[in-house]
Amino acid sequence: MRGGAAGLVLLALSGAAAAQSGGAALFETCRACHALEREAPEGAGPNLAGLLGRKVAGDPAFDYSPALKAAGAAGLTWDAERLARFLADPEAMFPGLWMGGRGLDDARDRRALVEWIARNGGGA
Ligand code: HEC
Repeated sequence: MRGGAAGLVLLALSGAAAAQSGGAALFETCRACHALEREAPEGAGPNLAGLLGRKVAGDPAFDYSPALKAAGAAGLTWDAERLARFLADPEAMFPGLWMGGRGLDDARDRRALVEWIARNGGGA
């Protein structure tokens, strides 16, 4: 019985490690346009440092689309749940969005990416 319990713990740990590297790999596609480091030079997309807890369209240096500006002006803020929904289909959440690319179909990928962002500069 003790051996079985240890096996379960190991499985849980390797699952967490897999989710972590999955998030890092997934963010590589975002990195083409987004940085998570506060001092990073502005890219094709807004800086995502401190994203969670920040208002939508909250990078003062970035010129957002009217769609995102309106959402920010309406008081919408980013949290993990909203980010995961956004990643499923960005354009559906904000019609008129200027961000290319389709969403992530797999809910596990979305969760892994949100968790990775939260731990690597995108957290509050
Ligand atoms: C080709 C460039 C590009 C890629 C790749 C890209 N984005 Fe974006 N992203 C943008 C642009 C441009 C905007 C601003 C859109 C607007 O103003 O409508 C944006 C906006 C955002 C916002 C809203 C930020 C805010 O301040 O409210 C989030 C969150 C975001 N992107 C996350 C991601 C994630 C996560 C990925 C990877 C899965 C990703 N993006 C991939 C260009 C990109």
